[in-house]
Amino acid sequence: MRSPPQAREVETLRESFKFSSSILNIQNGSNEMIASKQKTVLITGASSGIGYGIAEAYLALGANVVLNGRNEKNLAAAADRLGNKDRIAIVAGNIGEKKTGEKLVEVALERFGSVDVLINNAGVFATKSIDDYSEEDLDSFLMNLKGAYFASQAVVGRMREQGGGSIINITSILANRGIKGIPATAPMAAKGGINSVSNNLAIELAADNIRVNTIAPGIIKTPIYGLKDDEFDQLNSMQPLGRVGEVSDIVDAVLYLDNANFVTGVILPVDGGAAVGG
Ligand SMILES: NC(=O)c1ccc[n+]([C@@H]2O[C@H](COP(=O)([O-])OP(=O)(O)OC[C@H]3O[C@@H](n4cnc5c(N)ncnc54)[C@H](OP(=O)(O)O)[C@@H]3O)[C@@H](O)[C@H]2O)c1
Repeated sequence: MRSPPQAREVETLRESFKFSSSILNIQNGSNEMIASKQKTVLITGASSGIGYGIAEAYLALGANVVLNGRNEKNLAAAADRLGNKDRIAIVAGNIGEKKTGEKLVEVALERFGSVDVLINNAGVFATKSIDDYSEEDLDSFLMNLKGAYFASQAVVGRMREQGGGSIINITSILANRGIKGIPATAPMAAKGGINSVSNNLAIELAADNIRVNTIAPGIIKTPIYGLKDDEFDQLNSMQPLGRVGEVSDIVDAVLYLDNANFVTGVILPVDGGAAVGG
């Protein structure tokens, strides 16, 4: 696993992550910067795994975060573990319901005054044959698609007012490439939908300086599979790079895409090479 960033590295990153919304005081003819603020980052599915890791990284960089998850107790416990109470807000609720995305924006504006980045990360997974997925299963997975859609819908108005923003979705390599032995049609119906929304939205919002990108993880060590470390080890050979991914691998990609001002509409596999072969 990557070692945590050193103090100087964090300081350099922190500088580059200050939202570049410098307002120039042109009225009196000076170039004096009169406003500069830290980013506010909305993260769905932040009580565990990848979402928690993303929250931890942004907090280390000095950002404000608004965290979401369905289970309020777990979400509050995650916020406690993260510390930095003054820069954390939580919104419990199913992100598949439109009102949850709207609440995230409301809380972000009330607490921190801006909405700069949205990470559509919330999701669930179960592998089953097409014969076994029930209608209820399919509906529950489609909640992931509705969640990413409604949360994006909730943020764009404010991002336009602010002059731009960044939306990053977390989908899966399985959305574009089935893998023998891992049948996943129902969850991938949602993830494939998010990929399509991501491409279309990137084009629709480009003129508003809102970038929309997607990360397609391979197997990442998180609680989503209910596996122990040694069970993950047995999956190492499925990736050309010879290991399963760590949360930090996805965090690196999120920070890159957030900071990559000339990149939009990308679906970036972070999978040890599994998407292209192996
Ligand atoms: N780990 C992997 O190998 C892998 C691979 C490909 C894609 N992904 C994707 O990466 C994302 C994060 O997964 P993870 O591995 O970090 O899993 P995780 O540890 O199980 O975390 C999932 C998070 O999403 C929340 N969540 C689930 N459904 C939600 C909903 N409808 N509304 C709000 N919050 C919801 C969960 O909290 P509550 O249960 O309390 O709501 C939890 O905080 C998911 O979208 C997953 O599909 C993961």
